[in-house]
Amino acid sequence: MMQRFFLSLLVWAYSGIGLAAADVTRGKVFDRFITIWLENQDYAKVVVDSSIVDLKRQGILLTRYYAHTHPSQPNYLAALAGEYFGNNHDDWVRLPENVATIVDLLEDKDVTWGGYFEDMPGPGYMGNASDGSTGTDGWDYVRKHNPFVTYDSVTNDGERLLKLESFDTFQRTFAAKQVPQFVFMTPNMMNDGHNTTLDFATKWSHKFLQPLLADKAFDEKTLIALTYDESETYSEPNHIVTLLLGSAIPPALKGTQDDTFYTHYSMLSTLQANWGLHNLGRYDVGANVFKFVADKVGYTANKDPENLPTVNNSVSYPGMLHNDSSVRLPIPVPNMKLVGAGGLGILPSIKAAWSGAQTGQTPYDGGGRVFDGDRNPPVYNKPADNSP
Ligand SMILES: *[C@@H]1O[C@H](CO)[C@@H](O)[C@H](O)[C@H]1NC(C)=O
Ligand SMILES: *[C@@H]1O[C@H](CO)[C@@H](O)[C@H](O)[C@H]1NC(C)=O
Ligand SMILES: *[C@@H]1O[C@H](CO)[C@@H](O)[C@H](O)[C@H]1NC(C)=O
Ligand SMILES: *[C@@H]1O[C@H](CO)[C@@H](O)[C@H](O)[C@H]1NC(C)=O
Repeated sequence: MMQRFFLSLLVWAYSGIGLAAADVTRGKVFDRFITIWLENQDYAKVVVDSSIVDLKRQGILLTRYYAHTHPSQPNYLAALAGEYFGNNHDDWVRLPENVATIVDLLEDKDVTWGGYFEDMPGPGYMGNASDGSTGTDGWDYVRKHNPFVTYDSVTNDGERLLKLESFDTFQRTFAAKQVPQFVFMTPNMMNDGHNTTLDFATKWSHKFLQPLLADKAFDEKTLIALTYDESETYSEPNHIVTLLLGSAIPPALKGTQDDTFYTHYSMLSTLQANWGLHNLGRYDVGANVFKFVADKVGYTANKDPENLPTVNNSVSYPGMLHNDSSVRLPIPVPNMKLVGAGGLGILPSIKAAWSGAQTGQTPYDGGGRVFDGDRNPPVYNKPADNSP
């Protein structure tokens, strides 16, 4: 408490010059993570796009990164909670207070965070969609690409809700050198490629990223993950491009590729490994950690999923947010026995919230297998630990 007080004093004393160093929770490999989400493109097409080829020279291309299902919304939801709860559509959904997200893990270790959504009409907006900067009367901002507002654990807390802001706010925050340490960004429906083309979105990204990749853009080591929510072709495995960029990339690794198997859950496990965070007790545990981070922190559990030959990730498995009521299931109980990539157990507040359900069966075993609604349905078992 005392320490907090002195930190606050220090921050106050330095507030004239932006985010004071004392306000940053140092990570083992990076001090800030920014992920930017584009829409609906297949790996094979993106990897030869000229803007991506140019950006790749400054970063690490992840060559085996898979989205979870179709359409968009479940992939966004998955990235925050380590689970998409059977969601198979883009309509309005909502998840109860006891479903925790990365926000809970970050706040527990005083890591600052923010979500930025281009053309969001105001902080914490929870509506379905909004017209914005394109002036076409079309929807520029859409709720289905803003996963935070689906979680009551975010929206029931006014301070959290106010951390969801527009791109204009991001630019002001960037200019003031006050960008939070975890940042999730969704461009509008034109710039993310949803209503435009592959080339339109990659050109936008290239331009948007230049200031963020400039020398001294940030005072702290920053890792940027440019990714897609899902692939375009539903009949093929959900293979997408993710590119790692920013000052946290070791110079010797710029222009290289990493062939480790990843999904959006890998962002969660990488954040846990970097900041020594607790886990969510869901599919975050067992997801491979970005290799250059795993190598630096000594995380050795990366491996291909056991069911690799049948990985397809094109159809949602049963769950509470499925629109076919015959495959609707309750929200699974988190597995409270798992140790995650941060070397810690489940977040104590999640354990407390679910303590009444401890005897329930759970699909989460920390094993790193990936599930779909086709050949790889989740298997429910008595919770077991994942010690090697
Ligand atoms: C469920 O959502 C999918 C994707 O939007 C849609 O194609 C399908 O018709 C919906 N099914 C029901 C039962 O609403
Ligand atoms: C938001 O969309 C859902 C369907 O996804 C609809 O039921 C609801 O009425 C919409 N809300 C508003 C405010 O338009
Ligand atoms: C983008 O396309 C969607 C339909 O997929 C439409 O509802 C929306 O208004 C369009 N947005 C713009 C800015 O054209
Ligand atoms: C993947 O799933 C899609 C949708 O069900 C299906 O069309 C396709 O055949 C599957 N591909 C493989 C390799 O299983």
